[in-house]
Amino acid sequence: MKVLVVGSGGREHALCWGLRRSAFVEELFCAPGNPGIAETADCLPVSSGNIVEIADLAEKLQFDLTVVGPELPLSLGIADEFSKRGMTLFGPSRVAAQIETSKVFAKEFFRRHGVATARGIACASKSEADAAIRQMGYPCVLKADGLASGKGVLTVESGEDAERALSLFFQERVFGAGGDRILVEEFLSGNEASFLAVCDGQNAVPLPTARDYKKVYDGDRGPNTGGMGGHSPAGILDAATSSRVMKEILWPTLKGLEAEGRTFTGVLYAGLMLTEDGPKILEFNARFGDPETEVIIPRLQSDLAGLLMAAARGELDRFPALEIKPEACAAVVLCAGGYPGNYEHGKPIRGVNEAAKMAGVEIFHAGTAIEGDHLVTAGGRVLVVTACAPTIGEAASRAYEAAEVIEFEGKHLRRDIGARAGRPTSS
Ligand code: AMP
Ligand code: GLY
Repeated sequence: MKVLVVGSGGREHALCWGLRRSAFVEELFCAPGNPGIAETADCLPVSSGNIVEIADLAEKLQFDLTVVGPELPLSLGIADEFSKRGMTLFGPSRVAAQIETSKVFAKEFFRRHGVATARGIACASKSEADAAIRQMGYPCVLKADGLASGKGVLTVESGEDAERALSLFFQERVFGAGGDRILVEEFLSGNEASFLAVCDGQNAVPLPTARDYKKVYDGDRGPNTGGMGGHSPAGILDAATSSRVMKEILWPTLKGLEAEGRTFTGVLYAGLMLTEDGPKILEFNARFGDPETEVIIPRLQSDLAGLLMAAARGELDRFPALEIKPEACAAVVLCAGGYPGNYEHGKPIRGVNEAAKMAGVEIFHAGTAIEGDHLVTAGGRVLVVTACAPTIGEAASRAYEAAEVIEFEGKHLRRDIGARAGRPTSS
C-alpha cells in the first residue's frame, strides 16, 4: 500500500512511525513533513492547507490511502475533494468536521442528540453575553465559536473578569470572526481525559485513553498551550466510565452526525470532564490529538494502516479487536524559549540521537528544521520525547531522562507529567 500523511508536527511523526511498522505499507509519504518524519517517510513540499495541490499529488502518485493530521485541511474540505475524485482518505468531510470548527454548532448538536455536556448559551453580542453570564452565574466559561488554537476559552470568576473577557471577544476582536459568536458555558469541575475513537460512519473503535497537560507550567498553572505532555492510559478512567463515555457521548454523537447528513469517518476525539455526575463532553475534535497520538500509537499493536483503511472504507466492523500493549506511554514536550507567547527560532539542537537510543524511548519531531547540517528549533513545541514502561510513573521517568540529554537554548518543559496520574485503571 502507498500511503500519504498530511501534516508536519509530532502527531504526524507518530502516525508515520506507526504506519511504517504496518505490514501493508510499502511506500510512505508525508506532506509537508519535518526533519524527523524525513527519516521514515518521503517528504513532499506541499503545505497542509493546499488541499487541491495535495489531491493533485495523490492522484498523480496514486496513493492508496491518505491520512490527515491537522484540522485546517479538514475544515477546508480535503475529504470532500478526495471523495469527488474517488480517492480514499481517512478524515471527516467538511460538514462532519464542523463538530470541531464551531462550538455553538457543537453545543446545539449535543442538545438535539442528548449528549452529556455542560449547559451553554450561544451569544452574538456583548449584551446577549451579559444576560447569559447573569443567568449562568460565576464561575463560568466563555468560548469563541470558531477555531482559536485552543486559546479562545476563558474562565471568568467575577464581573470584572467578564468585562475584560468580553472586550477581548467583541471590541478588540482578538479571535477575529471566530469570536463574533461566543458560548457562555457552565463551569464543570473534575478531571480531564482524552478519549479518541476511530470511526467509519457507523462504527466506532475506542483507542487507548490518554491525558493531555495543556497548561504551560507545573501544577496546571499559566496559559494554555497546544499540549506540554501526556500519557496513555489516562489513569483516571475505569472500564465502567469508558463504557459510559461510549454509550452517553460517542454513540449518540456518531448516530446524530449520520442522522443529520454529516456521516463521520475519521477520529472523533472527545475532550472529557469526569465530573461527580459522570463524564461530560467539553469539546469534540475531528482529528487525532497532539500529543495524545504520540502516546497512543506506541501502545497500539494492531496494524495502524489496516485500521485506518478499514475505517476509510466503512469496514470497521470487520476489523479484529484492537490489541494494546499493557505498558504505559508518557510524553514530555520540549518547548522553545518564550512559548506559548512569541518564541525563538533557529536554535541548534543537540543530543537527539543519544536520547533516542535509550530503552523504550521514541522521539517525535514537532517543530524542527535543518539549517546547513544542523537540526534547529522551528516551532513552539520542538520535540516530543516519549517512553514506554510498565507504569505511567516509570514511563514518565524514562521520558524525563531522555529529555535531559537533549539541549537547545531556551528549552523549557513541564516537570510534573505523570506525577499525579495514579495507577493505570484501564486501557
Ligand atoms: P475546550 O477548547 O473547549 O476543550 O477548552 C479548553 C480547556 O478549557 C479545557 O481543556 C478545560 O480545561 C477548560 N474548559 C473548557 N470548558 C470548560 C467547562 N465547561 N468547565 C471547566 N473548564 C472548562
Ligand atoms: N491535545 C489537544 C489537541 O490535540 O487539541
